[in-house]
Amino acid sequence: MTNQTGTAKLSFGDKELELPMYSPSVGPDVIDISKLYAQGDVFTFDPGFTSTAACDSTITFIDGEEGVLLHRGYPIDQLASKSHFLEVCYLLLYGALPTAAELEDFEFRVTRHTMLHEQMIKFYSGFRRDAHPMAIMVGVVGAMSAFYHDSTDIADPWQREVASIRMIAKMPTIAAMAYKYTVGQPFVYPRNDLDYASNFLHMCFSVPAENYEVNPILSRAMDRIFTLHADHEQNASTSTVRLAGSSGANPFACIAAGIACLWGPAHGGANQACLEMLKEIGTVDRIPEYIARAKDKDDPFRLMGFGHRVYKNFDPRAKVMKQSADEVLDLLGIENNPLLQVAKELERQALEDPYFAEKKLFPNVDFYSGIILEAMGFPTAMFTPIFALARTVGWISQWKEMLADPKQKIGRPRQLYVGETQRDYVDVENR
Ligand code: ACO
Repeated sequence: MTNQTGTAKLSFGDKELELPMYSPSVGPDVIDISKLYAQGDVFTFDPGFTSTAACDSTITFIDGEEGVLLHRGYPIDQLASKSHFLEVCYLLLYGALPTAAELEDFEFRVTRHTMLHEQMIKFYSGFRRDAHPMAIMVGVVGAMSAFYHDSTDIADPWQREVASIRMIAKMPTIAAMAYKYTVGQPFVYPRNDLDYASNFLHMCFSVPAENYEVNPILSRAMDRIFTLHADHEQNASTSTVRLAGSSGANPFACIAAGIACLWGPAHGGANQACLEMLKEIGTVDRIPEYIARAKDKDDPFRLMGFGHRVYKNFDPRAKVMKQSADEVLDLLGIENNPLLQVAKELERQALEDPYFAEKKLFPNVDFYSGIILEAMGFPTAMFTPIFALARTVGWISQWKEMLADPKQKIGRPRQLYVGETQRDYVDVENR
């Protein structure tokens, strides 16, 4: 923790408290309320953690007002255009860009862990064929703790490291197999001569009956999608991983918890929901009807892929994703794709609408990622598993940071209890 840089005064009733304040390297100051209950006999109340920092961190910084996203200080647009996913993984995990030798060693280690324990593969057949691949991901990743007993001791730094590499390496295999299972095709084993993104495309789209050549432009677009999703500081799924990890749970169980949280449509599930919405809108002439619905207080409909808890400006990831969508659709010769036309027109009309301007609702990363993934041939149900695959490194980096933090303790929020006060039990015959 940085040194105390100020003091906040809090007075309520007959109490006056002085609370320490800290300044971050960049971003708003924080008021330390950790002794508030002990000193003032009160809790703070912040449902949804809109004003609460739950930890200090050196991994990712977001300035939501300015639309800035930095990983270890490097802007996301530079990483998306100049770096690649495994290098960004190294950066997130270890704090600095690797030298050429360090990168080679890291890529070697990840590549050598891509296969799944053969018995784990049998696990898949226990799922229904129509299972959502996220359901399979939650189950299979959680089940890793039953297969890799030599990397579940969180007190051992070597085991933490092996678990981290294993999950980054195996997640593409797990996600690709989840896909293959739901479409009834044979599992495709990883190929270690391919780069990370190409190998994932190979495991998803090759079949034993014919040769599959990975298109380098699609592989680059896939890698960019992974890079853009790699980490996003203390979002819901990352906070879930930290909370699960704070009890000392093993790393595979913690990441499974993160995947479960990511699944929801307000978080990672938004990419699937966004594409389904674009399909439902279908044609440009129907856009005003959907914008009107999104603005209607009595209609629960929201424009999926719009709005963000932190970004009150363009999501910097969405800018890169939009450019990538143009490139991929151009390559595939489907730049007149009706979904893209609807997406572009919807974006234009929403950004001109005072409702979205006043509430600072801009397209987020999910608005364009689904269009790229659909053009590549992924079904909508695979969008969130791909997000989970990419975010695994962020979850692990945050989990490792938490375990190394001397202030770390079990996460245990308090509550504003508004239920019944104590009352006596009444026997069933007397109720
Ligand atoms: N469409 C229409 N109105 C919206 C939208 C939207 N997409 N998002 C927010 N609003 C409105 C709300 O109705 C609310 O209006 P009010 O103040 O009049 O009640 C106001 O904007 C603020 O919305 P909140 O829900 O309070 O904002 P919050 O920060 O809690 O939610 C969230 C952020 C969940 C992302 C929200 O914008 C949303 O539901 N968006 C659609 C789903 C989505 O795209 N999620 C992906 C997020 S990015 C990610 O996880 C990778």
